[in-house]
Amino acid sequence: MDKLIIEGHKTLKGEVRVSGSKNATLPILAATLLTDEPCEICNIPKLRDTLTMIKLLRSLGKTVEFKKNRVTVTSKEALKSVADYKLVSTMRGSFCVLGPLLVKLKQARVSLPGGCVIGIRPVDLHLKGLKALGAKIEVENGYVIAKARQLKGDHLYLGGAFGPSVLATANVLMAATLAKGTTIIESAACEPEVEDLANFLIAMGANIQGQGSPRLTVKGVKKLKGVRYDIGPDRIEAGTYMIAAAATKSNITLKNVDYSQLLVLIDKLKESGVKIEKGHNAIHVKCVKTIRPTSITTYPYPGFPTDLQAQFMALMAATPGVSVITDKVFPDRFIHIAELNRMGANIRREGSVAIVEGRKTLYGAQVMASDLRASAALVIAGLAAKGRTEIHRIYHLDRGYEGLEQKFSELGAKIYREKI
Ligand code: UD1
Repeated sequence: MDKLIIEGHKTLKGEVRVSGSKNATLPILAATLLTDEPCEICNIPKLRDTLTMIKLLRSLGKTVEFKKNRVTVTSKEALKSVADYKLVSTMRGSFCVLGPLLVKLKQARVSLPGGCVIGIRPVDLHLKGLKALGAKIEVENGYVIAKARQLKGDHLYLGGAFGPSVLATANVLMAATLAKGTTIIESAACEPEVEDLANFLIAMGANIQGQGSPRLTVKGVKKLKGVRYDIGPDRIEAGTYMIAAAATKSNITLKNVDYSQLLVLIDKLKESGVKIEKGHNAIHVKCVKTIRPTSITTYPYPGFPTDLQAQFMALMAATPGVSVITDKVFPDRFIHIAELNRMGANIRREGSVAIVEGRKTLYGAQVMASDLRASAALVIAGLAAKGRTEIHRIYHLDRGYEGLEQKFSELGAKIYREKI
């Protein structure tokens, strides 16, 4: 298993190009199941999660080619309706093939994705939404078996105890595009990745209104066509580099980035003293010597993203003073605390709240990556820390950050991968 070595406490400088969004790519690839015509999708990040989704599409009968951030999906054989445990269990994003398969084939058998270290992660909202459209659903031997001769539009509420669900919205939205009549989804997720998916579906010929808002109105159409589409930039990757710049007191420029998708992070970084300027398709991060402790609470979009909570905690761990970090989306997403504490941080957890007593200096240590964003937090802590950090189990990082060592190296960091 590879490990990542970081010689920390160096400032970063220069430009970094943000890749295409992982969380937009996964449902958009799933949406290609809705048409038999060829689709060409560009700006796809080369990541383990993308490759898993491509494998899943192939296992369902699609022919998929992936070259230089460009994916083409064509149909040479009949679509299959079974999404296997091996592929769905490794990546939750795979579960969003359920809606497209069901509406296209009138039946689907998709493995339950299971939980992960950030929480139990149920799928009740996905199933509730598809049932509202008339699907008969049973769970058998770890698989969801869904059947519907003809899905029919309905007016439904899709919020849950922790707010809207990104992938449940994606699943129901995709199914609704080919359902009979009009579907109105209330409490739909407003994340830019859902908006990107809706724009892809509209380009395919779907009739959708309200994308980016909590009410999506979908008028079912008979057929969707093949398209060429560019995936939008990854706001979580962008945010990770911005936080890394703040933690290392560096000045960097991000290219291929959407400022408007990062407003809450920009607001919080400004509150902590970081200077941020909007450029043309770019963001300039300019760092002062002293960062102020700043508290955050994660919420669904446009609130502070849970996917940047761990990275922001790493920044606060290296910022003298007390800050409070609350996760309202995944209240158990705190596995990174123990590893950050190994690097000299002083963080304690009380339920869904972490209290960070920031230190002037963190120190390099051997640490273990536990999930994707927790791994990014360890990279940020390692870049800020004095001495050498070794991050083990970095396959998590490969799930979601395209060329991470290369991009940080180009910014002047001493970071490299060691094969074990
Ligand atoms: C997506 C993102 C993930 C991000 C998360 C929240 C992808 C591939 N993944 O995951 O990176 O952290 O959004 O922004 O896009 N919930 C239920 N029942 C359900 C579904 C969800 O109770 O049926 C709960 C979850 O446990 C969580 C909250 O709703 O507390 C939000 O989760 P959700 O938006 O569904 O996350 P994902 O779509 O799985």
